[in-house]
Amino acid sequence: MSENIILVTGGAGYIGSHTIVALTKLSGFKIISVDNYSNSSPETYKRIKEITGITIEHIEADLSNKNEVEEVFKKFKGITGIIHFAAFKSVPESVAKPLMYYHNNINSLLHLLEIGEKNGVQNFIFSSSCSVYGNIKELPVNEETSIGKVESPYAFTKVVGEKILEDALLGSSTMKGIVLRYFNPVGAHETGKLGELPNQRPNNLVPVITQTGIGKIPKMEIFGNDYPTRDGTCIRDYIHVCDIAEAHVKALNLLINNEQQQVFDLFNLGSGKGVTVLEAINAFEKISNQKLNFEIIDRRAGDVESIYADNTKAAKILGWKPKRSLDEMMESAWKWELYLKNISQ
Ligand code: UD1
Repeated sequence: MSENIILVTGGAGYIGSHTIVALTKLSGFKIISVDNYSNSSPETYKRIKEITGITIEHIEADLSNKNEVEEVFKKFKGITGIIHFAAFKSVPESVAKPLMYYHNNINSLLHLLEIGEKNGVQNFIFSSSCSVYGNIKELPVNEETSIGKVESPYAFTKVVGEKILEDALLGSSTMKGIVLRYFNPVGAHETGKLGELPNQRPNNLVPVITQTGIGKIPKMEIFGNDYPTRDGTCIRDYIHVCDIAEAHVKALNLLINNEQQQVFDLFNLGSGKGVTVLEAINAFEKISNQKLNFEIIDRRAGDVESIYADNTKAAKILGWKPKRSLDEMMESAWKWELYLKNISQ
């Protein structure tokens, strides 16, 4: 059997790198990573090697530049699948810089589909987000839930991205694909040697929590406690990044083994449980045995009030169920933060 060559875009990033680790357990696959390191670093490949013993081939490219995408396919022949993570992903940043988000997230996808198709790519997995559901009243959301009015340009790049992929696949004679809608991926690899490492001050809750715990952030802010939820803070569905990574392996297998009848399908990847910001902070305080310094400030632009997943479709079709608890998410994220502190000393 010939080798499957999989291009992972954003392979040095948070979810991309954990997925690469999960993919290295499969035999008959060669993984190539492409990244422009706008929110990551090539150091990640050393970390992947430390964990897996495998050197990941990689190339630096900006996927929103068509010529650079052509170069990737010139350098690596025979790519059969693409897992497309590379995108800007901050909700508040997208509110402040919408055109930057539309330019990067949409053009990258268009180039990969167009040039991928020309080069014989057969399988495509696209990272989407629960933000496509917007502020929705009927919870939990399942894949049949209609897409609401989205709250941020980031979320809209995912709505449009999903539709572009669906239309491209319907018009393609060779390619099949899957959209994975992540809820809130958090945590780190169990070794504590790989985790989320944004280049700038983080926007996402768990890195903000761990950086406050370690003292890099003196005092964290909670964006609003006047939402109509059980403690007034927003509800999210936190899911361990390694569970998310394993879902990609299942999705890729489904495509490669030709077990998906239709050309396009989509799945929610969430734990199914809603957790408030204060509950997340409490979970961290419990596992790290310390009190966090925080203050409540105004609501953040672009935030939805509550969202959590119905994940039964992924269980049924992908055979995927999240295995790791909120405590394990916090423990691994904290282990990673402590590891970063150790290696910087
Ligand atoms: C959003 C998307 C999610 C996507 C992620 C990518 C929604 C519903 N979800 O996550 O699908 O994967 O962006 O970045 O749009 N918070 C604080 N203080 C902080 C940071 C966060 O209180 O310093 C709160 C936020 O207000 C929110 C929760 O923590 O209620 C989670 O925020 P965050 O981690 O940024 O993720 P989302 O914006 O929910």
